[in-house]
Amino acid sequence: MKGDKGARVKPLAPRIMAKRVFSGVQPSGSLTIGNYLGALRNFAKLQHEAECLFCVVDLHALTVPQDPKELHQRTLDVARIFVASGIDPDLATIFVQSHVPAHAELSWLLECTTYDGELRRMTQYKEKAARQEVVTSGLLTYPVLMAADILLYQADEVPVGDDQKQHLELARDIAVRVNNRFDEEIFKVPEPYIPPKTAGGRIMNLQDATEKMSKSAENPRGNIAILDSPDEIRRKIKSAVTDSGREIYYDEVNKPAISNLMVIYSLCSGQSLDEIKSAYVGSGYGQFKSDLAEVVVETLAPIQKRFTELSEPGVIEAILAEGRRKAEPLALPTLRRFQDRLGLLALS
Ligand code: AMP
Ligand code: TRP
Repeated sequence: MKGDKGARVKPLAPRIMAKRVFSGVQPSGSLTIGNYLGALRNFAKLQHEAECLFCVVDLHALTVPQDPKELHQRTLDVARIFVASGIDPDLATIFVQSHVPAHAELSWLLECTTYDGELRRMTQYKEKAARQEVVTSGLLTYPVLMAADILLYQADEVPVGDDQKQHLELARDIAVRVNNRFDEEIFKVPEPYIPPKTAGGRIMNLQDATEKMSKSAENPRGNIAILDSPDEIRRKIKSAVTDSGREIYYDEVNKPAISNLMVIYSLCSGQSLDEIKSAYVGSGYGQFKSDLAEVVVETLAPIQKRFTELSEPGVIEAILAEGRRKAEPLALPTLRRFQDRLGLLALS
């Protein structure tokens, strides 16, 4: 492909909002406190400083087998959790990926500018493919669909957890490649917004601190789901693995399990890691864990309450319909411009 590197690009016309933010969450399982601390909490903050689009990426979920009824329900539930976590549909646009067909259309066009080797190198592809009996081509091209989600909206910033870093780098590479090829800024090159580990960028599994907490994990004991009952939360934290010794301090290498619990404690309570360490000098893991459970229960209680209120029929559906109405007109100009530059015949 012509000019992958180095060519200058013409800037886009200035926008009204200083910054546009895009992020997506798959409706592929029960959202965890990792999703909340690593992503959703930041979405709610960003909506005050940028024009935000938050998308339930249902097409991404189809890359692995899904039960249709569950997918339907989870799509609505993820949107409800967005709102329950503080995303205000009057400030941010909340919508479903498949409601804006431009995502799938742009994805195809971008697949034709992405190399097979780039996709086969993706760590998440290798991990997920190893776990599947049948590997679909959608699983391989998944990061291109993600690039399409982001590039379609000319997003400046993409808030995600640490696990999405490689996918975002690919989205940037694709944008630069297309811009260079046409010597024009067809796509804004997006910046990642990834919190450091101590700020929730990577919350680990409670049963295995070497694994990321994941909503699609086979064993839910290591996850705290946002909708878990207080008793489930207490039980899971009580049975969380700990490290040798009985002191409580942050040390990712030698005390990965306690460090992870401390990060959760810190983000839920607003206390610093140092404050937590001082508060538990000499008290052992038992007291720390039982206090942590209460802090987590208190953090999730208001989200769970709002979630229940949003379960009234029609409420979330109306928010999603409005979201689609706002998102689609933002997406189409980029798609049409790229189609034109590629030589595709315009609709008449
Ligand atoms: P997913 O669950 O893969 O759809 O992810 C939705 C968002 O939550 C993405 O931004 C992920 O990077 C983030 N996320 C998922 N799991 C974690 C975790 N264990 N720690 C921090 N962020 C996470
Ligand atoms: N791949 C992301 C994940 O699993 C979800 C996602 C899809 C996304 N499209 C996106 C995240 C666009 C940010 C921007 O977490």
